Amino acid sequence: MKVCIFGASGYVGSSVYVRLRSASSDDVVGTYLDEPAMSEGLYKLDVNEPESFSNFYKEENPDVVIWAVMSGPNEHKLTDQGLMHLITHLTPETKLIYISSDFVFSDGKGPYREEDRTSALPEDHTFSNYANAKVKAEHFIENELSNFVILRAGPIYGENRIGKLDERTDRLSYHLRSDRKIDFRNDLTRSFVHVEDLAAVIEELVYNDVTGVYHVGSERRQSFYTFMKSMAKQMGYDDQLVEKGSEEEKVDAEIPKDTSLITKKIKEVSDVTFR
Ligand SMILES: NC(=O)c1ccc[n+]([C@@H]2O[C@H](COP(=O)([O-])OP(=O)(O)OC[C@H]3O[C@@H](n4cnc5c(N)ncnc54)[C@H](OP(=O)(O)O)[C@@H]3O)[C@@H](O)[C@H]2O)c1
Repeated sequence: MKVCIFGASGYVGSSVYVRLRSASSDDVVGTYLDEPAMSEGLYKLDVNEPESFSNFYKEENPDVVIWAVMSGPNEHKLTDQGLMHLITHLTPETKLIYISSDFVFSDGKGPYREEDRTSALPEDHTFSNYANAKVKAEHFIENELSNFVILRAGPIYGENRIGKLDERTDRLSYHLRSDRKIDFRNDLTRSFVHVEDLAAVIEELVYNDVTGVYHVGSERRQSFYTFMKSMAKQMGYDDQLVEKGSEEEKVDAEIPKDTSLITKKIKEVSDVTFR
């Protein structure tokens, strides 16, 4: 079996890449874009370049594809170009595992179920590029493919397989190490998921025939403040230094304060326990 991870040098992708390579003798290939590559053996590839993408894909011809690329403000390009190239190359036998986000929910109020309606943000919203690209990507995948899994995640945290922390926890420990206060919003509720739990679910999905849309993460819904306070404690710091942040920010407009996810469905098909 051959598995290909696009974005194998990223935070999530590198965990999945290292995990799969160390767990099996299957052929696992991965791509990166910017130097330096975070693991050995990765191929440099811009997924938005049709010719090099096509050459790479035809050469590798994977049985399972994991799409772990992300490009914040250029996310639209990744959907309109990269993902479209991929979809034109996939055969019905090839399984696509696509990592999506709770950003696809901009209507209503969490906790959301898998079947709740996704919706786009107004074009002039700060997060519209990322959020709307994810909404569009999910539509493309659901309309064009049948052999796919879409995994929707809230904030992903923790140390990954190659020792990298998410940006938020990194900022937390940077402040607390030097006894400096730091604040996080208490009015924004999310479902957090540990990067290694997500990688473990992806590993299972590579080897089973489960398809469909699934929410991943802990059943506990927490505010950034509550969650980061517990992280501070877990890391052995003084959690009193974690304070409640101010509640009104312009970028919040149009985004529900609670974008937490109901994660029951994934438990029916996966043995992974979300911490
Ligand atoms: N992090 C979170 O909290 C979070 C939450 C929900 C969902 N997600 C989803 O999880 C997935 C992985 O996110 P992440 O946090 O691991 O992101 P990340 O650390 O930023 O990694 C993204 C990867 O995409 C690659 N990439 C970007 N543009 C590319 C292009 N044009 N061609 C080829 N590769 C390209 C980057 O390559 P280089 O590093 O080599 O430049 C990098 O390896 C994404 O789909 C994201 O939307 C993340």
